[in-house]
Amino acid sequence: MPQTNSEALAPTLNMLMNGEFRAAHIYFQAAAWCEDAKLAGSAQFFLTHASEEMMHMQKIYQYIVDADLSARFEALPEPKIEANSLVSLLQEIYQHEKLVSERFIKATKEADQAGDLSTFEFLQWFIVEQREEEMLFRGILDRAAVIGDGPHSLYYIDTEIAKIAAAAVAAASATPAGGGA
Ligand SMILES: [Fe+2]
Repeated sequence: MPQTNSEALAPTLNMLMNGEFRAAHIYFQAAAWCEDAKLAGSAQFFLTHASEEMMHMQKIYQYIVDADLSARFEALPEPKIEANSLVSLLQEIYQHEKLVSERFIKATKEADQAGDLSTFEFLQWFIVEQREEEMLFRGILDRAAVIGDGPHSLYYIDTEIAKIAAAAVAAASATPAGGGA
């Protein structure tokens, strides 16, 4: 239970909570995009990731209400996937994760400046999580680059992503508290 009064950070915490909800929404749409493209491994990966974002959203929601603040959910914009290939979809998502990381870093600095050590400490978890997210997507893009543009490259990339999704599910069931990469 947070001890400090985090009222000054309430708008920022709500912004972050809604951001995680939007991320889940985008990942669900990315999963659907992969289903349309018959990329079952990638679809599973994005579904797993969408659930993770929902957990992040709930983690922030819980922090807000435990701090005796008000959680405010906003309307979700339509998640638009502009990509026309799996690699460009992954690049789009990678750029999105980088923006999310910047938001958490900015919020952490804000908590520090406000002397809100409780929120500062709470946000550390997300800083680590975002670093892992960026590494994950960079890793997938690197593998896709190694596989290249051969005749069966899409199949191999999808298989690699399916392996990552399976590993993420195994890691999540090994740590019941949730989180992970
Ligand atoms: Fe997240």
